[in-house]
Amino acid sequence: MDDLSTIRSEALGAVAAAADLGALDAVRVAALGKKGSVTGLMKTLGGLAPDARREFGARVNQLKSEIEAALEARKASLGASALADRLAAEKVDVSLPTRPDFANWGQGTLHPIGQVMDELAAIFGEMGFAWAEGPDIEDDWHNFTALNIPPDHPARQMQDTFYLPPRADGTPMVLRTHTSPVQARTMLDKAVQKMLADGGSLRVIVPGRTFRLDSDATHTPMFHQVEGLVIDRTTHMGHLKGCLVDFCRAFFEVDEFPIRFRPSYFPFTEPSAELDIGCSWKDGELRIGAGDSWLEILGCGMVHPRAIANCGLDPAVYQGFAFGMGIDRIAMLKYGIPDLRSFFDSDLRWLRHYGFSALEWPSLTQGLGR
Ligand code: PHE
Repeated sequence: MDDLSTIRSEALGAVAAAADLGALDAVRVAALGKKGSVTGLMKTLGGLAPDARREFGARVNQLKSEIEAALEARKASLGASALADRLAAEKVDVSLPTRPDFANWGQGTLHPIGQVMDELAAIFGEMGFAWAEGPDIEDDWHNFTALNIPPDHPARQMQDTFYLPPRADGTPMVLRTHTSPVQARTMLDKAVQKMLADGGSLRVIVPGRTFRLDSDATHTPMFHQVEGLVIDRTTHMGHLKGCLVDFCRAFFEVDEFPIRFRPSYFPFTEPSAELDIGCSWKDGELRIGAGDSWLEILGCGMVHPRAIANCGLDPAVYQGFAFGMGIDRIAMLKYGIPDLRSFFDSDLRWLRHYGFSALEWPSLTQGLGR
């Protein structure tokens, strides 16, 4: 009996005194381990008479649970303070300057896609375009129907769509196949409609991710587009051409840049066109600028009256143009990057080779206004 209360007070005292998790575990082993004091008491049970064994056994078991509970409680409080100590000890002062030897290898670069998006913002920003965005996961109505592509329209097969499970309310969902749904979202915006009604004009670019079931050297299932949209009461095809020609000259930084518009078809523009830029092949290498070949870089046209009406604007009052351009495509052309898939490999050597310094701000608006 004496043994029991001595062991009890010693063990509980040691639990309370344990300064860290290591010391606490030593206390556990000393009491409850194979050769521990409580375990020693258990071993004496066999030598007792049945009645005494039952009574003493119950007390030893109770002691055991008591010590276990004390160990658990102490462990929890030591654990919490150990975490607090670690958090304090491992605190990082993010305001410290970089170590000198770090500068040589620790510097990141801007991905060419991000760089080109900055360039788009700079060039179109100078022309008065604001930046707009929309969701990657889009409903069928914005991606197709609003843009004059009804459910049974053959143009739905022009794009290999990733269909998603419908929303809880049954709305069919897709990964957007182009940035054009943001045309609809922008025209539907109440603030935009009020601004137009007040005589303003809408000019936005919409850079972002787009998705199609396609994969080879020039197609990836995820790629980037930039949409352009201008809506007011007077903008016409001549403005469309001027805007895109100015853009190409500024972006590719080539004077007398050869550009041609080819008639085309999109359900949401009428008339529609595609824009080709001049290029040539020399020793298997593509050169942009005057040459004997052409490369398509974008689709465009005057926004279809039905798309305007679907988005809550009166097509008898409002008109304008839209274009959609492949960002990856123009990045490859401008920076001589041969394989589209390499854009998304996250290969550090590639990123260092084709990446841009974060401090280099695009300075390419000199082609504008010529
Ligand atoms: N959305 C079209 C495509 O992805 C491009 C486009 C945009 C064409 C706007 C005309 C106007 O192919």
